[in-house]
Amino acid sequence: MYAAVTLFVFMCLTATTHADHHHQPCHSPNMTGFMTVWTLKGDVRAFGAFTYDSMGKKLRFRSNESSPMNTSIGLDLLMFFDEGVFYEIDSKNQSCEKKSLQCSLHPLDIPDDAAFHAAYNTGSPSIEGEGLKVNVWSGSMAGSKGHYFMSVTMGCLPISTFYICDSTTFLFSLSDVETEIKDPDLLTVPSFCVGQPLEETPEGTVNSFLNEFM
Ligand SMILES: *[C@@H]1O[C@H](CO)[C@@H](O)[C@H](O)[C@H]1NC(C)=O
Ligand SMILES: *[C@@H]1O[C@H](CO)[C@@H](O)[C@H](O)[C@H]1NC(C)=O
Ligand SMILES: *[C@@H]1O[C@H](CO)[C@@H](O)[C@H](O)[C@H]1NC(C)=O
Ligand SMILES: *[C@@H]1O[C@H](CO)[C@@H](O)[C@H](O)[C@H]1NC(C)=O
Repeated sequence: MYAAVTLFVFMCLTATTHADHHHQPCHSPNMTGFMTVWTLKGDVRAFGAFTYDSMGKKLRFRSNESSPMNTSIGLDLLMFFDEGVFYEIDSKNQSCEKKSLQCSLHPLDIPDDAAFHAAYNTGSPSIEGEGLKVNVWSGSMAGSKGHYFMSVTMGCLPISTFYICDSTTFLFSLSDVETEIKDPDLLTVPSFCVGQPLEETPEGTVNSFLNEFM
């Protein structure tokens, strides 16, 4: 956590934005891995496994309840970004809620309208296996005056994303990423959720992946 913050501050101070970077944001491949969600107060909001389908724009995240942090929340989310819906799943009592998404921002892929911010080397670029070249993309969060900074590898694997909002800042950090979907069943709607009616979204509510951690 502290390393990540230090890295971020360092990056802001020293990163050089190259004017000749006209490239478009890349898109992540299929992925399986772990995600940790921190608040900048140092609390772990959630830790758990994710599965991401890059073509189908589907994401499953299940927080790990054996994680020892007591600031964390139990979540099991199945997001369908293209359809604009998601499910909050409770496997224990086999129930779920289906909701519409008002904002499709999430930390597994760079939004198409993100702007290139910087490129830098973490660790040492000159020692084999001791360095990682990172691209940083940034953009604003619709409707909340917030903005984000997303770091990805040259192969477009997300490393971490800062969401800086009015009220809080969140850091989503990914680890042990593998570029395949290990269990495709995780991206299908559980039988007990099929046919679930869409809940009405109360006036003024914005549902997003990020909002689930607030
Ligand atoms: C990603 O996963 C989806 C769903 O399993 C699959 O249809 C697609 O072919 C995969 N893409 C790649 C590039 O492997
Ligand atoms: C939860 O975390 C523990 C310890 O980190 C790990 O052994 C276990 O496999 C995880 N479970 C899931 C469902 O990710
Ligand atoms: C859990 O949270 C309570 C207060 O919310 C705190 O007093 C306690 O020390 C915490 N326990 C651990 C293991 O962090
Ligand atoms: C399932 O459990 C959650 C909380 O654990 C509760 O809010 C919900 O009402 C329960 N649903 C059913 C159908 O029992």
